[in-house]
Amino acid sequence: MKKYFLLTPGPTPVPPEVAQAESRPILHHRTQEFGKIFVDVIEGMKYVFQTKNDVLMLTGSGTAAMEASVVNLLSYGDEVIVASCGNFGDRWEKICQAYSIKVNKISVDWGKAINPKDVEDLLKQNKNIKAVFTTHTETSTGIVNDIETIGKIVKDTQAVLVVDSISGSVNQKFLVDDWYIDVAVTGSQKGLMCPPGLSFVSVSQKAWQLVEKSTSPKFYLDFKKMKKSIENKETPFTPAVSLVVAVHKAIEIIKGKTLEKIWQETEKLAFATRTAVKSIGLKIFCDELHISNIVTPISMPENIDGQKVVKTLREEFGISIAGGQDKLKGKIVRIAHMGYIDKFDLIVGISGLEIVLNKFGYKVELGKAVKAFEEIINS
Ligand SMILES: Cc1ncc(COP(=O)(O)O)c(C=O)c1O
Repeated sequence: MKKYFLLTPGPTPVPPEVAQAESRPILHHRTQEFGKIFVDVIEGMKYVFQTKNDVLMLTGSGTAAMEASVVNLLSYGDEVIVASCGNFGDRWEKICQAYSIKVNKISVDWGKAINPKDVEDLLKQNKNIKAVFTTHTETSTGIVNDIETIGKIVKDTQAVLVVDSISGSVNQKFLVDDWYIDVAVTGSQKGLMCPPGLSFVSVSQKAWQLVEKSTSPKFYLDFKKMKKSIENKETPFTPAVSLVVAVHKAIEIIKGKTLEKIWQETEKLAFATRTAVKSIGLKIFCDELHISNIVTPISMPENIDGQKVVKTLREEFGISIAGGQDKLKGKIVRIAHMGYIDKFDLIVGISGLEIVLNKFGYKVELGKAVKAFEEIINS
């Protein structure tokens, strides 16, 4: 029997209390009992997003909420900006293209952050832009973007700001109202410590005005249907009832701890992990001035295939970390520190990495990175 350690940037481990809540007998979704839980979840997500805006829930992973944002805000032929610094930023472009939305793209080298000034310049040049799509924490490269500055730029224009915080919510500071984010998107399987399958979107008044004008085809993903149902404490269609119950419990845990405390703890885990891997000569893949706290992206030494490192860790030790995506396949590995992942999980991951790297010929002193980690985490 193999023990399983999940250190990927989603899905993340589920706390026992959440798993237990999830396994309660199924409630019917058209009952008062479920309605109360659902409304609590919607209110709780306003805390997670730090917003007074409407929050909507979708049964579907984060990408469903991304696609829903595109189809609800825009119409055929509309023009938008997509500011991307990685794989998930690029996803906004692909979704927009699928709906014949014209994309003006700001593309940054992977590993670098978006420069808000580029967004400002493009918005000044083109007054037809209806929306700016971007990413809070770019999970594929480890970057956190300066959404606060982008928010200040977009707020006084005709455009709405749409931000994917699917991996950033809960663990990385994210203030929807203070940062003027019109539409924020997240999923259940990362900082929210729940299984995959639910996503959430916050929608500002400015965004609702666009929703009113949108003519893109939509049915299941229709924001207006979702908003109307919430007034009756319901969802338009059968929701993933057990996941809603799980998120309800997870929000209780998050509120009990407070976001501020979670941000602080995650920052320390992230710093300790980076210090640990650097202590054995490994390099951080992305610009450390803009590195997020949710994941450590580690460049693989020459001649070591990151894919094989990930596979060996998983198959021999039951430790799941993530590899590189797209053009970073084989070149980097990624260790997450978000959600229920704690310092002792990370010690397991870091020691596993030391062992596997040695096996592949990158000779490191066993325990050196673990020691560096422990020294920081206990300081
Ligand atoms: C930043 C970001 N955006 C989008 C997604 C896609 O979300 P999902 O896989 O839940 O559809 C992910 C998932 O890894 C992500 O990290």
